[in-house]
Amino acid sequence: MPAFPQYRGRRLRRTGPLRNLVRETSLHPSQLVLPLFVREGTSVRRPVSSMPGVAQTSPDELIRDVEHAASLGVGGVILFGIPETKDASGSEAWNDEGAVQRAVRLLKHELPAMVVITDVCMCEYTEHGHCGILRNGEVDNDATLELLSRVAVSHARAGADMVAPSDMMDGRVRAIRSALDGAGFSSIPILSYAAKYASAFYGPFREAAESAPKQGDRKGYQMDPANAAEALREVFADIEEGADAIMVKPAGPYLDIISRVKEATGYPVAAYQVSGEYAMIKAAAERGWIDGDRVMMESLLGIKRAGADFILTYFAVEAARMIEKQ
Ligand code: PBG
Repeated sequence: MPAFPQYRGRRLRRTGPLRNLVRETSLHPSQLVLPLFVREGTSVRRPVSSMPGVAQTSPDELIRDVEHAASLGVGGVILFGIPETKDASGSEAWNDEGAVQRAVRLLKHELPAMVVITDVCMCEYTEHGHCGILRNGEVDNDATLELLSRVAVSHARAGADMVAPSDMMDGRVRAIRSALDGAGFSSIPILSYAAKYASAFYGPFREAAESAPKQGDRKGYQMDPANAAEALREVFADIEEGADAIMVKPAGPYLDIISRVKEATGYPVAAYQVSGEYAMIKAAAERGWIDGDRVMMESLLGIKRAGADFILTYFAVEAARMIEKQ
């Protein structure tokens, strides 16, 4: 390429319209997915203190939030459930009358065009808060697969458009795929949380979903933040097992992983901007230390630029509003 003074990078940055013309990355509301926390009851709205603007809601209230998101063009929602009762195996997770299942049915009835994804995991449903069933103090991988499969089928029966297993058990994508196919849901895709790290950024979520492990941590199944080659192994294993789209989580501190996964697979890649990433931006903005809107948009653009096709973010509605204004 030519060097200075032939090359002057500033020529294309002189005015807004010129900059727009050569913009490499764009964000559209249809590429944003809003995470929502649903619990039983009616007219329930319980704010999550560590996540300003986020609340646990009953299905009737949730519909209102999703209507609002849909009016701004938000591409989808992902539902997490908070059950009334927990037990050792997390049996409420596959209850066809559970909060998630009821919310999915209501959503698909009222807003059929909205993409409804469900998180498939046990941690909100087990009394110990781990993502599977315990045997001798450890999560029993193979025994958990059967339960995850029941959950996925129950969500599909309720009308979910896509299921997203987030437990990090080995072999869960194959198990869920074959359970879905066996139950007549061969057209329901799986979004696999393939590269999910044992991250401190999930802190506020565990308040929102009431899913913190009572004892120990999730290092026995979630990935070590130091590992990138392992992320590719996890991703290829899930693709082999039948994943239709791949997720990297968290997003901001793992942009290299997003980029490598996209490049290596060519598969649809989702990135989850998690609760801690959201809470940090909200907290600094509240203190007036950063411009919250601009940092929000820059953080999302960075995730997109790294290679994500769509982003799960608690900012989905606010960002969609900003994009509309631009
Ligand atoms: C459940 C699950 C978690 C998140 C999504 N699904 C928490 C965890 O693994 O502890 C985190 C999302 C967030 O922090 O926003 N397995």
